[in-house]
Amino acid sequence: MSPGILVVGSINIDDAIRVPRLPGPGETLSASTLDTAMGGKGANQAVAAARAGATVRMIGAVGAQDGIALLHALQADGIDVDGVQRLDRTPSGRAVVLIDDRAENSIVIVPGANHAIPEGAVRDACRTLLPGDVLLLQNEIPAATSRLAADLAREAGATVIWNAAPAPTSADELVPGVDLLVVNEHELRRLADLHRIEAASTDRLMTEIAQATGADVICTLGAEGAAYRVAGATGTAPARRVDAVDTTAAGDTFAGYFAALAHLPLPGRLRHALDAASLTVTNRGASSSIPHRSDVDRIAQAAPERNTAA
Ligand code: ATP
Ligand code: RIB
Repeated sequence: MSPGILVVGSINIDDAIRVPRLPGPGETLSASTLDTAMGGKGANQAVAAARAGATVRMIGAVGAQDGIALLHALQADGIDVDGVQRLDRTPSGRAVVLIDDRAENSIVIVPGANHAIPEGAVRDACRTLLPGDVLLLQNEIPAATSRLAADLAREAGATVIWNAAPAPTSADELVPGVDLLVVNEHELRRLADLHRIEAASTDRLMTEIAQATGADVICTLGAEGAAYRVAGATGTAPARRVDAVDTTAAGDTFAGYFAALAHLPLPGRLRHALDAASLTVTNRGASSSIPHRSDVDRIAQAAPERNTAA
């Protein structure tokens, strides 16, 4: 059975803007489209875990007015938002997401309510965690809030997964004592810098970060899939070959699916999370682009071989 998932994290309003290429300094470009919808790494991962089949609760904060649609969007996926705070004087977090013709993106975030999550809401939610539950964290809320949640979850016997994204910029942003780190290659290198680890290869960095932190490590590799160091097993798993149109929320989909599928043996868990993330990049948008488990199962049955077109 899927574990219960608690996400303590960000909820954003994303302005997704399509441009032919990402602008350089001082450059003005004309966009082809602007779409406004729910995003935020916390919300995206909550949606991914829910669409993977898990029971999901979200703790975070939104503006009292501009957050109403965000709460409805989370509820539409069956996510429990009772613990999401509605703040009167602080607007919801906002992200400006530029996406170019090669599906690459560039994101600027205004944290807003994400930086005002009351400690009491985190304590109340974490107090109800049970052994076997999963706490899923990212890096778009204050690190002190994430650390508090991680400490309480550990005390409750829950598993703590930290998607260290966006990459921490200082040692103050680290969350120690987590069970699993999920990062992309850039985030892996930033974590290595902050732990004063010098190593040339991704493999070596993963091993040394695992030794320094005591955590399992998964590093996603974009179109190449992911490298893992989990419960003593190491290796790589390929991604499905797809036509990418927008990679926004690809990492979030992987993290949410991987958290939700904790009841599966590692190979299947990785395969499903990678397939889900590869499907996400074939659609535009953040939360809206995340596939349901039935879609992920369908491509696995239609094209079971890896590195084949979906
Ligand atoms: P983002 O920040 O764009 O959400 P990320 O940098 O956190 O993503 P990536 O390593 O780029 O994470 O991608 C996460 C997963 O998404 C990959 O492991 C893979 O399954 C899938 N993915 C990303 N890009 C592609 C692609 N071009 N083709 C197929 N799958 C992809
Ligand atoms: O990971 C994608 C997300 O990053 C976007 O939805 C945006 O809100 C930023 O937080």
